[in-house]
Amino acid sequence: MTTVDHANQPELHPEFHPEHILTPVLLGVDGQGSVQGVDQETEGGRALPRAFLKWAGGKSQLLPKILPRLPKRIGTYFEPFVGSGAVFWALAREGRFDHAVLSDRNAELITSYRAIRDDVEDVIALLAGWSHSESFYYALRARDPEAMSPVEAAARMIHLNHTGFNGLYRVNKSGLFNVPFGRYKRPRTLNKPVLRAASRALRTVDLLVADFEDVLPAARPGDAVYFDPPYVPMSGTASFTAYEKSGFGEPAQRRLVLALEDLQRRGVHALLSNSDVPLTRELYQGLRCEKVQARRAINSRADKRGPVSELLVSV
Ligand SMILES: C[S@@+](CC[C@H](N)C(=O)[O-])C[C@H]1O[C@@H](n2cnc3c(N)ncnc32)[C@H](O)[C@@H]1O
Repeated sequence: MTTVDHANQPELHPEFHPEHILTPVLLGVDGQGSVQGVDQETEGGRALPRAFLKWAGGKSQLLPKILPRLPKRIGTYFEPFVGSGAVFWALAREGRFDHAVLSDRNAELITSYRAIRDDVEDVIALLAGWSHSESFYYALRARDPEAMSPVEAAARMIHLNHTGFNGLYRVNKSGLFNVPFGRYKRPRTLNKPVLRAASRALRTVDLLVADFEDVLPAARPGDAVYFDPPYVPMSGTASFTAYEKSGFGEPAQRRLVLALEDLQRRGVHALLSNSDVPLTRELYQGLRCEKVQARRAINSRADKRGPVSELLVSV
């Protein structure tokens, strides 16, 4: 991932102080701040669950290829690189699993999921009080999510995610979110039906901060695992160096192959997506590999949003 150094970060908003986080200020006539209408799918008048975050590498447009390659009926569904969880939400809409375990190494992300599951109305109340402005964005961005309550940290993540440049989540070397302000006119920073539907769908879900390997011992025959790891970049690109340093370089990719083979031996259904490059073709030889066409959803450069070939690997 490319890193934008944002050294020229504006000063904190002069009016920013912790009460902005804790005390909702009603902005619109209905108190919904910058919300504009509701347009998501519904069932019986209720919104169906879908992602409440935008995420680099989000799998929405690959769903038609992924969903048929997972079992019709799943005991426990595991998604160990959950990100915004596009596949989880799709399976939840179809009621395909009895139970789910969602995990990711990103603690801030899992904190946000837990807050949506356990305290969605408090998250909504906070978001409703936050305005959309550049100065507010940078003041909120400057706050340390680990020093905030889970509800505050979740609202912060959602607000920044919907108002930051290209909906990216990216942290610098010190682990601080460093995406610059995005130039959206009227971003939808609060979508109550989506958050409430997500909360209902997460009610019985286990949410863990974990390395992908640590959740797999619990998987049994009848369960299913979908892996969407950080992709191996096209070799020779600038992002390759960043990728090698990201903590998910070749050793981690090889660890993942061993995990797949172990699940195969244990009779657990597993599906994995990755880029279609020489390294992945070498790694997955011997496993069932299919080539599919995908469109990169988030890229700061429009010319890099064209179709790319990806691999779906199943055991
Ligand atoms: C490509 S994204 C997943 C995108 C997701 N499928 C979606 O639809 O939004 C990869 C995720 O893997 C997580 N991650 C990176 N290394 C990890 C590791 N060793 N164990 C678990 N999660 C990891 C990142 O935090 C990131 O959320």
